[in-house]
Amino acid sequence: MARAQELELLGRDIVHFEIGQPDFPTPSHIAAAGMQAILDGKTRYTPPAGLPALRQRIAAAAGEQRGRHFEPDQVVVASGSKPGLFFTTQALVVPGDEVLYPDPGFPTYEAMVRAARAIPVPFPLQGKDRFSLDLDRFDSLFSTRTKLIVLNSPANQTGGILSPAQLEHIARMAQRHDCSVLSDEIYSRLVYDGGRADSIVCQVGMAERTVIVDGFSKTYAMTGWRLGYMIAPLALAGRLELLITHAIGCAAAFTQVAGLAALEAPQDCVAAMVGKYQARRDQMLGMVQAIPGLTVDRSQGAFYLFPDVSAWGLSAQQIASRLINQ
Ligand SMILES: Cc1ncc(COP(=O)(O)O)c(C=O)c1O
Repeated sequence: MARAQELELLGRDIVHFEIGQPDFPTPSHIAAAGMQAILDGKTRYTPPAGLPALRQRIAAAAGEQRGRHFEPDQVVVASGSKPGLFFTTQALVVPGDEVLYPDPGFPTYEAMVRAARAIPVPFPLQGKDRFSLDLDRFDSLFSTRTKLIVLNSPANQTGGILSPAQLEHIARMAQRHDCSVLSDEIYSRLVYDGGRADSIVCQVGMAERTVIVDGFSKTYAMTGWRLGYMIAPLALAGRLELLITHAIGCAAAFTQVAGLAALEAPQDCVAAMVGKYQARRDQMLGMVQAIPGLTVDRSQGAFYLFPDVSAWGLSAQQIASRLINQ
């Protein structure tokens, strides 16, 4: 992305295929609510875990989506999902603990584990079966130090979704090894072909050991507003709130008001964006499959295609450089 921006400054016209950023503008009713909130003086600190009305609304909406009941006190609002990823890790692991996370996956997972002085243990996602878990391999990575499992379904960067059977397996392993699960569900509403992404929190015995991390960036095209949240077991939510209190204070008040407007209004804007993402996925899939040597699976969610370029015999870095420079 940095190289693309350099070339753009020189006048080159670049099509970006790198970070996960919706190109849609924030829907106007949400932007208007945020602007009005500034004019109304919503420019001060809020309670660290978020405006009570927003926490209530998130608990209700997230509960309805997943068919579960969440208490508003389980919801801890933050300035994006990234603080949710970092703080959950800080709250749950100590130096030397091991954390399992998907590879390929969102690069922040490894970073947040290292920042906590814990040991990153990537679990590979396989090209066959739509970038799914190799369950035997997954099981073999557990040790007595394993404390946390990071999941991301639908996944950045493969677009894969964990099946109910896989979630059940992971849940069993988490309980057997007494681990927590950080479930990054930021793409849970960007699913295609009428599919759905289930949450591990719905598996038997998992509500008390799962932290859901989700946010507004992708669903509502609000990346720059910085608004996300964690939904955690009550006692842990209190500790996460302490981390928010001392590290960021709170998410911006007017951003929270905009988030509330996003949840309260009809959800047609989300449906419209998902429809467009699906149409683009289909178009891109055809175009990428037509390139000699590339194979690619149909992504089931999020907004990524993850082609297999190994037939070209070059590293990913070399291919990226060629694509942008030539
Ligand atoms: C899998 C995943 N989790 C979390 C994030 C962070 O999102 P936010 O903007 O809410 O911090 C991203 C953004 O790219 C992502 O792809």
